[in-house]
Parts: sequence; C-alpha cells; structure tokens
Amino acid sequence: MTATICGTGSYIPSYTMDNNDIARLVETSDEWIRERTGVIRRHIIRDETTVSMAAEAAKRALEDAGVSPEELDLILVSTISSNVILPCAACEVQERLGAPRATCFDLSAACTGFILAYNTAFAYLNSGFGKTALIIGSESLSNLTNWKDRRTCILFGDGAGAAVLRAEEGTVYLPVTHSDGRKGEALTCKSRHDYNGLSDGHCRERPQDTPDEEYYMQMDGQAVFKFAVKSVPEVINEALELNHVSSGEISYYILHQANRRIIEAVARRLGEPMEKFPVNLQEYGNTSSASIPILLDEMNREGKLRKGQKLVLAGFGAGLTWGASIIEWHRCRTNEIK
Ligand code: ACO
Repeated sequence: MTATICGTGSYIPSYTMDNNDIARLVETSDEWIRERTGVIRRHIIRDETTVSMAAEAAKRALEDAGVSPEELDLILVSTISSNVILPCAACEVQERLGAPRATCFDLSAACTGFILAYNTAFAYLNSGFGKTALIIGSESLSNLTNWKDRRTCILFGDGAGAAVLRAEEGTVYLPVTHSDGRKGEALTCKSRHDYNGLSDGHCRERPQDTPDEEYYMQMDGQAVFKFAVKSVPEVINEALELNHVSSGEISYYILHQANRRIIEAVARRLGEPMEKFPVNLQEYGNTSSASIPILLDEMNREGKLRKGQKLVLAGFGAGLTWGASIIEWHRCRTNEIK
C-alpha cells in the first residue's frame, strides 16, 4: 500500500511587502536581496493566523480531491509558528473542518516539516492505520522575524499549503531523512520556551536587559547555506539509489524554497537542468514548512503535473534536519477508490 496525493490546496495572505518596503526598515536594497536570495516580495498575515491559513488551505485541498472532511482518518499540521500552543493546530483545523474521525497532531521540524508530515502520513496509510490523510504546512514566520535584523528579515514570508493522501495500491518509495542536533545553533528561535513571564522558581522570567534579538529567529546564514548545498544533493541521491530510481526518471525536484542560489547549486551538483527545479520564492520568500505544498499546489493547478510522473520532494532547515521523498503523481478519483 502506498500514499497517493489526490488533492492540493494553499492559502496566501493578500498583504505583500516587497524588497523596497524592507529597505525602509533596515539598511538593504532591492538589488542586494534579489541577487543574494532571489526574493522579490513576500506575503504577510494581517487578519489571518497560522490556524486560519491551515484550515483554508485544507478546505481547498479537500475540494480539489473530492474528499469530505468526515472521511479523514488523520490530520497533521507541520508548523513552527502556530498561534496556539494548546490545543494543537491540527485539532483546531479539525474543529474548523468538521472531521470527527481524524486523529490530529502537529509536527515541528521547520523547513523539513512537510517532508516529515508526508512520511508520517505515508507510514500510517502504508501500515493500514487509516485510509485518508490530510497534511498541512502553515507558517506565520512574520511573528518570529526580527524586523530590525537585515540578515533574516529579508528572507521569510507567511502562507499555508495542504495535500490530501489516500491509501492505494502502488509502488512504495522509501524516504530518506536525517537530523543533526549538534548543529542546532545554526538556526534558532528561543522566544516561547526560554521565558514565559512566570517567576515561580521553575520558569525563567525574561530578564530586563534581554536584547530583542533573542526573541526572534537567529541564523548563521552562511552555515545554513553551506549545509544546504551539500546535504540536499546527497540526500536526494540517497533516496534515488535506495529506490533504484535514476535522475532521468524524475520530472521535477520540488525543493524547500529558501534561496534561489541554494536551488541552483543543488541542480548543478545533481547535474540536472534548472527546468526540473520549479521556483516560486520570488513571490513568497521562505515560508518554511509551507513552501513545498504551496509550490506543489501551484504546479497542480497550473496543470504542470501529469499522471505517472515521478517527483522528488526535498526539505532542509533548522534542527538541523533534511530529507527527500519520491512520490509518483497519480491524482486518484475518489469514486474509483470507494
Ligand atoms: N542587505 C545588505 N547587506 C547585507 C544584508 C542585507 N539584507 N545582509 C547581510 N549583508 C551584508 C553583510 O553584513 C556582509 O557585509 P560585510 O562583508 O561588510 O560584513 C555582506 O552583506 C555579506 O554577508 P553574508 O552573510 O556573507 O551574505 P550571504 O551571501 O551569505 O547571504 C544570506 C546571506 C542571504 C542569508 C545567505 O547566507 C543565505 O541565504 N543563507 C541560507 C539561509 C536559509 O536558507 N535559511 C533558511 C533555512 S530554512 C529554515 O529552517 C527556516
């Protein structure tokens, strides 16, 4: 039994900030940001929340799949920026959709999160633990961004993407994932858990002189860049070898959208043409675990994906974490499955 994607959806906030808007906040320029990252604008939440975007992306994916919320056995939300800590975002989405049968939980693995959500849903469906799953990546990174730090605020954006999976007979492709907690300091965000406002002796209070920076995402950009351009081609090759699939069989590599230069470097190292690496980060910036499902949804809706095509999904980010999964595009018609 394998897991087939039978519908996708996304939600993008309508409010945008382009590079010139950022240049009014910090010392930078449109030219610098475009050249070093490829980002031109990013969408930022106004009335939306991580949960509201997740629910909207989910509704669109269910509609695309022709699956009703009552059919869902599993809802997974990958996020590092939920507006709620309890209950989990997946339960909030369940409540908004009306999906009473679903088991719901969140995953937190930053920009590799959607890959791990896909792998988890795949493992559930493959083992017979449910037939229909909804996986979502949703992020409000603007809440975790220090808008005074030009090394990070140029990069990130908000949005959500979702996919509906069904258990189906088909080829099983095993994913490859890695984690290296020793390198966690390369990308951190300490805001929620270090300080919680209580001073009862158990929980630390935010010291008066704590710099604002400690509340937001901190990144060693060059370390993350070097890690990505080395690890991503390696893990993709591992996944191809493990599953006896050649690069020539892959129609598209759908990579986490962090930086255009990273994607170009990965393509070069794999010896594959850039045409196989769709890029949309110029419009959204880095939306962490939402970037892969947003791109997948765009390609699905633009009719770029054909039945039988093999795709590689690959993510990398904080943790450090990274991984690649091979999927075969085969949008199933639900009335054929039932
Ligand atoms: N505008 C203008 N100048 C800048 C800016 C800016 N926004 N940011 C840095 N600079 C300056 C630096 O101060 C430095 O100046 P100096 O030489 O006088 O000291 C110079 O530009 C070069 O800085 P670098 O940090 O070396 O720039 P680099 O080419 O590495 O680009 C960047 C920085 C874009 C952050 C890059 O390192 C990168 O994209 N790294 C990967 C980041 C990433 O993908 N992170 C997300 C991971 S996924 C996740 O889990 C969230």
